[in-house]
Amino acid sequence: MASKMASKALPATRHVVSINDLSDKDIETIFDTAQAYLKQLPDKHFNYRIGRSTDVASNHILASLFYEPSTRTRLSFESAMIRLGGQIITSADPATSSAAKGESLADTVRVIANYADIMVIRHPRDGAARLAAEYSPIPVINGGDGSHEHPTQTLCDLFTLKQKNKRLKNLKVAISGDLKGSRTIHSFVYALARFGATIMPMPAKGMELPAHVDQRLREEFGCHMVAVPKGKNDVTGASLDALYVTPEVPHQQSLFAGPEIQRDIGRDNLMAEKKVDALYVTRFQKERYAEKDQAYPRIDRKFLNEPKYSDASVMHPLPRVGELDVDFDSDRRAVYFEQAAYGVPIRMALISLLLGVKGKSLHRFASGFELDEQHLYIQPRSLGIHCCNPNCIVHDPMEANYVRNKFHIVHSKVSGTSRLRCVYCEREIEHFVVASKKNKWYAADPTALQHAADHLKDIVLFADEADAQAAGFHSRRAAAEPRPAKRAGGRAK
Ligand code: NCD
Repeated sequence: MASKMASKALPATRHVVSINDLSDKDIETIFDTAQAYLKQLPDKHFNYRIGRSTDVASNHILASLFYEPSTRTRLSFESAMIRLGGQIITSADPATSSAAKGESLADTVRVIANYADIMVIRHPRDGAARLAAEYSPIPVINGGDGSHEHPTQTLCDLFTLKQKNKRLKNLKVAISGDLKGSRTIHSFVYALARFGATIMPMPAKGMELPAHVDQRLREEFGCHMVAVPKGKNDVTGASLDALYVTPEVPHQQSLFAGPEIQRDIGRDNLMAEKKVDALYVTRFQKERYAEKDQAYPRIDRKFLNEPKYSDASVMHPLPRVGELDVDFDSDRRAVYFEQAAYGVPIRMALISLLLGVKGKSLHRFASGFELDEQHLYIQPRSLGIHCCNPNCIVHDPMEANYVRNKFHIVHSKVSGTSRLRCVYCEREIEHFVVASKKNKWYAADPTALQHAADHLKDIVLFADEADAQAAGFHSRRAAAEPRPAKRAGGRAK
């Protein structure tokens, strides 16, 4: 891979594909830097007039590579770069780029890396930004990849919450609408969990948090589900259960932790204190569903009259298309335009830190939020298991020669089992068979992977026994049965 070819003397290029690529310390640094840029912006009412704030990036170029529609993300990145004194180059319409001629993303990013110093990419495929990062010698920022993640939107969201509440830890945040298809939600819930927030999911029917996100929140981020009584104005039809975080998990105490950190948040407190700090509304991501007309909750003044929302900031990543009533715009709790405005100082901070032109550089991967045990399995090209997500970049025919099925092996301390997490889209597979390349045996029990964890080059993973048998492997159980005498002393152990 291109990144492996880079000179060892150079620091590893820092990419931001997932919110979990940023450590708590990184996020703190980004917020401090954004706060400084915010003061320099023309006026505090977010009336952004053209004008440069600084020239720290005057020798640098940002490339925006957008394969999907965008207003806020692309223009705020470009405005941010211009305000840093830098230049921008833009490819915003796949129909006019070489993608229309069949060029792969992997080739495109390697070419763009010669024209720019940093790039932001948006793509309809889950995991596309990770693939771009693998091939790019310059920093890649994920501006939204399919329904996977949108980490810089989360930075804007968290920054807004911090401006409003003066803290991030232990907030109570309700998230409403399309929790399944919204990439903004997926980055946001990981971050909220990291900061010890209580998350109250209010999904539209059939648009619950994806199983792999929900499982990860519980198993890696210390979230637990508790039932919360349903208010009479709740129009979502969903129960108002909440994911609350066990504060004992060490990483949640590090960010902005002061002496006042609340250690006793729990079911009883949650039930007693029903006020919500923020309600995050999302639109139905119709471009990600075959069925375009689905019942969807609408948030309006009546809904927000419920006493628990009396001090809640009402947030939305925008665009809205009817799910959040415009009559609410003049309400003091409406913060969505301010949230969008923070996109400029936040992205100024991220760009300047990744380029290393401002203060402390983010070039070196800091601690990050990493799994305790994580191993990488790279699938041979011709056989074995595939990512289970049909929208993953690994299934894009244009990338077929550039991408391999690759999985992190995640050992769950909760269930004691191992799962495969796609390196690109992060969807997980629980059931698979483990086969030995050398012996041509397979074990249908996925726990066999735990014994093979140190020999991943020697094994092949298959989706099921039929696939393993079709590839010429046979069951280890059958192989272990007594052999005919003439084979004694052979290879069998
Ligand atoms: C979001 C996106 O593109 O995921 N928009 C944005 O970047 N602010 C949300 C959406 O499109 O609904």
